[in-house]
Amino acid sequence: MSDQTNEHPDDASAGKATMEKITSLAKRRGFVFQSSEIYGGQNGAWDYGPLGVELKNRLAGAWWKEMTQLNDNVVGLDAAILMHPRTWEASGHVENFTDPLVDCKKCKARFRADQIPAENLSAKKCPDCGGELTDTRKFNLMFRTHIGPAEDSASEIYLRPETAQGIFVNYKNVIQSSRMKIPFGIAQIGKAFRNEIVTKNFIFRTCEFEQMEMQFFVKPGTDEEWFDEWRKRRWAYYEKLGIRMDRLRWHQHGKDELAHYAKDAYDIEYLFPMGWRELEGVHNRSDYDLGRHGQYSGKDMQYIDQENNTERYIPYIIETSAGLTRALLMLLCDAYGEEKVADKGNDDDWRTVLRFHPAIAPVTVAVLPLMKKDGLAELAQDIRRELKEDFATDYDQAGAIGRRYRRQDEAGTPFCVTVDYESKENGTVTLRFRDSMEQVRVNRAELIDRIRKEIKEYKRAN
Ligand code: GAP
Repeated sequence: MSDQTNEHPDDASAGKATMEKITSLAKRRGFVFQSSEIYGGQNGAWDYGPLGVELKNRLAGAWWKEMTQLNDNVVGLDAAILMHPRTWEASGHVENFTDPLVDCKKCKARFRADQIPAENLSAKKCPDCGGELTDTRKFNLMFRTHIGPAEDSASEIYLRPETAQGIFVNYKNVIQSSRMKIPFGIAQIGKAFRNEIVTKNFIFRTCEFEQMEMQFFVKPGTDEEWFDEWRKRRWAYYEKLGIRMDRLRWHQHGKDELAHYAKDAYDIEYLFPMGWRELEGVHNRSDYDLGRHGQYSGKDMQYIDQENNTERYIPYIIETSAGLTRALLMLLCDAYGEEKVADKGNDDDWRTVLRFHPAIAPVTVAVLPLMKKDGLAELAQDIRRELKEDFATDYDQAGAIGRRYRRQDEAGTPFCVTVDYESKENGTVTLRFRDSMEQVRVNRAELIDRIRKEIKEYKRAN
């Protein structure tokens, strides 16, 4: 573990989460590393370190629980990344999943035409160097590769650009195997790939990322009602995760923004350090997807309503589509804080703290012996062993106790258990809370229940 737990906020960004600070903290503490760093890095791809993978897994777990465990009519699926290439013709991705691209003939910079000032585009003038821009051309975002040894068009296959299609093509399998009745949903978490023209802002927009998608199948005519219902549920989910709600807002897609499949769409946007950006989309996909898959596969994709005179129809789909890796960036930004906690005139006066909800923090409890000697380390190890079955734990005996608290604050660990001489005498330990820095004495035998209760009742104060 690094000893450098504090950034001294003596500049204009004091106390604020900037993308530079988040990126540097993420690397320093092992949340996120640049992919293939020793070879100079790979654009558009990132690796998740020891704390990062824990946070990502817990975030995915929270979403999964919210979708499947708490909704009787939503079941899970894990479909393959490689799908039959006809899938992407049916879905409209081969034809429509494109970005407009322009290049500068002089400095060779590449831009998304819709992300540069309109006057530059109309004058064909590079926003970076003033050089001449090429005509706008369409660029398909799907990664193409070949399956098998022959690299011809017959073996061409795509890496999925969204997890949703794996759900649509399995919708009948799920009905038949799980006896689901409309309305019902299928949830899935998995990798998706997009050949993004511009990847910037750390892990916000990457070529390889993870999505958490849920497709809810409904009877046509009830779609608008379900669309509103899922918007409400997704909003409530972020509140439950302890996100600062004043940093979230809705954005309804205008006619020109709607994806080729969408009848209506709202984004939940988060106020990232670089401004308001999409975090998750809730889409009314109408009967577009199942209709097209029926057409392209020749299979009957109609739902047969056994309880209603075998009425047949193509269901409408309400989709909630969140980026897992993007949500992890949101969590880092949302949790980030810098606070003055002492007045000694040195770097130790400040702490950097990540206020993750305890249910998703990478480490839940750190056990710290006040001293290594006099049997305190052994006692602390023993307490850690006891806590391990129930919580993600860490153990740290290196350096001054204040420094160790700061290291845990910076990793977002909500609880520290300190083992001291009194612990040896009467079996009590100190439980320290990350947010308030308050400490209480707790009987060792009551520790697990107390931490469980604290997690359940957690409310973020600042
Ligand atoms: N199935 C619908 C769909 O994929 P989308 O708006 O293209 O809709 C959904 O993507 C979510 O996936 C976004 O809100 C975002 O969180 C995440 N996402 C999309 N492209 C991404 C990228 N290049 N890098 C990271 N996350 C991305």
